[in-house]
Amino acid sequence: MDVIDIIVTKRDGGELTPGQIDWVIDAYTHGAIAEEQMAALNMAIVWRGMTRAEVSRWTEAMLCSGERLDFTDLPRSTTDKHSTGGVGDKITLPLTPTVAACGAAVPQLSGRGLGHTGGTLDKLESIPGWRAELSPVEMRRTLTEVGGVICAAGTGLAPADRKLYALRDVTGTVESIPLIASSIMSKKLAEGTGALVLDVKVGSGAFMKDTASARELARTMVDIGTDNGVRTVALLTAMDTPLGKQIGNALEVAEALEVLSGGGPEDIVELTVRLAREMLAAADLPDAKDPGEALRDGSAMDAWRRMVRAQGGDPDAPLPVAAEQREILAPTSGTLTRLDAYAVGMAAWRLGAGRARKEDRVSAGAGVTLHAKPGEQVRVGQPLFTLHTDDPDRFERAAETLADAFDINGDGERLPLVIDRIC
Ligand code: URA
Repeated sequence: MDVIDIIVTKRDGGELTPGQIDWVIDAYTHGAIAEEQMAALNMAIVWRGMTRAEVSRWTEAMLCSGERLDFTDLPRSTTDKHSTGGVGDKITLPLTPTVAACGAAVPQLSGRGLGHTGGTLDKLESIPGWRAELSPVEMRRTLTEVGGVICAAGTGLAPADRKLYALRDVTGTVESIPLIASSIMSKKLAEGTGALVLDVKVGSGAFMKDTASARELARTMVDIGTDNGVRTVALLTAMDTPLGKQIGNALEVAEALEVLSGGGPEDIVELTVRLAREMLAAADLPDAKDPGEALRDGSAMDAWRRMVRAQGGDPDAPLPVAAEQREILAPTSGTLTRLDAYAVGMAAWRLGAGRARKEDRVSAGAGVTLHAKPGEQVRVGQPLFTLHTDDPDRFERAAETLADAFDINGDGERLPLVIDRIC
């Protein structure tokens, strides 16, 4: 087969055959297709889209690029959640140990930052010693002993996604329903979870900017999951403004720890508890302990500490702090009516929390702290944002990015935190 024919077929709006899809994914995974050719094909998919048949086959080919784990022999039911990505979205951090503390097993394969959105693995790697790469044997051991594991898809699991994800991040090819759906679902099917809750983000800080496209992405993924024997449900949730008040790797771990200690921002707690209940229901555990109780009684925190230790991390070690901080002050008094998630995500990325090239290292301490959220009162001269970076040359562009990111006393309309449920 010829990769150029495949690129041209998609560029011109044609439908790829199952044989072409299987071949192109296999050849790319094994290094027989150049990065620039795959980037061109991805861009053609971004523009032309895929039919349902193509996206299901593309997902299957990515899944078949590696092994598929099987946890059906575990004494606990497995359940997982995956977010399509947002700004300040650290929900996986408190959620996984919470659900483990409620009696389910959570085999969570996560990703790194993509575009302006943060990645769970980058966040966890700010914990001294913590290791994302586990073999399938280590993953099973941690899951069995602790009840929850968050790790990178090992080289054997969905290796096609591993390569494609890194390529899409740096070639402007993230925002595509078939590419996002196949990326997420190939990993989730490979990890062997029995039930799956998808958190499909909607708004400026999400890859899906409007409810209609988020609904289409959710439907595509729910259908792929269901067709593959995984009980799959999706929630559409707001990403017009960042989640919580900390955006950046170590900053978000610190905020997740507040939630696990029984405090933390209301939106993070509400979404953690809602998603945990959905995960337990999808795993058919109606009598499980309530997730709110697990956060209050310390059992979720205990599970977190065991999870971190099992992957080499020290849960008591101080988290990295950026070398430099700068505040941005409120220009006037009133109600904060808009705080744009995309701009805040870009500012954090510019401060060093994300990557510009796939081989870049992220800065653990970089990011943005929000001092007010939409609906709250601010006074002229009070800090609105604290910027954190290791490189002070980055302050200026981040501050420019935030200049139009908010309104005080505007007439901004907000999305509800949970917009819809699709099953
Ligand atoms: N999360 C993923 O795992 N893949 C995507 O493409 C987008 C978000």
